[in-house]
Amino acid sequence: MVINGPNLNLLGTRKPEIYGQTTLAEIEQRLTALAKELSVELVCYQSNHEGELVTAIQKARGVYDYILLNAAAYTHTSVALRDAIEAAEVPTIEIHLSNIHARETFRHHSMIAPVCVGQIAGLGAKGYELALRYAVETV
Ligand code: DQA
Repeated sequence: MVINGPNLNLLGTRKPEIYGQTTLAEIEQRLTALAKELSVELVCYQSNHEGELVTAIQKARGVYDYILLNAAAYTHTSVALRDAIEAAEVPTIEIHLSNIHARETFRHHSMIAPVCVGQIAGLGAKGYELALRYAVETV
């Protein structure tokens, strides 16, 4: 399952110099095509609401083998998302389009990193595809 958090629905027009010009719909299309090629099922979800993201992660328990998660700004603030990932017991890869470690200091800390398998940051939209390939190889 691919989960994208707040403001990622604005990709394409939101700060393209940082996040690139690819829209979320394009990212999801590419991932869906790659999933087909790799013979796995893929579901995509986006929400701007923390509680809805928590619910989506809770519901993934026992249903999906992997979560690819760009929690966006909630990465840096949300104990609730961290707890949801831990409770779901679904291996989760943290993804960021930008290199959060090279940006403002408030973006350097991830609340969710300790409960994720690993983190991909700074590789743009390609990061999602790399995460999917990794998930399929290691599941
Ligand atoms: C982001 C990085 C976050 O710091 C930011 O709040 C986002 C997007 C990224 O993909 O680079 O909304 O997760």
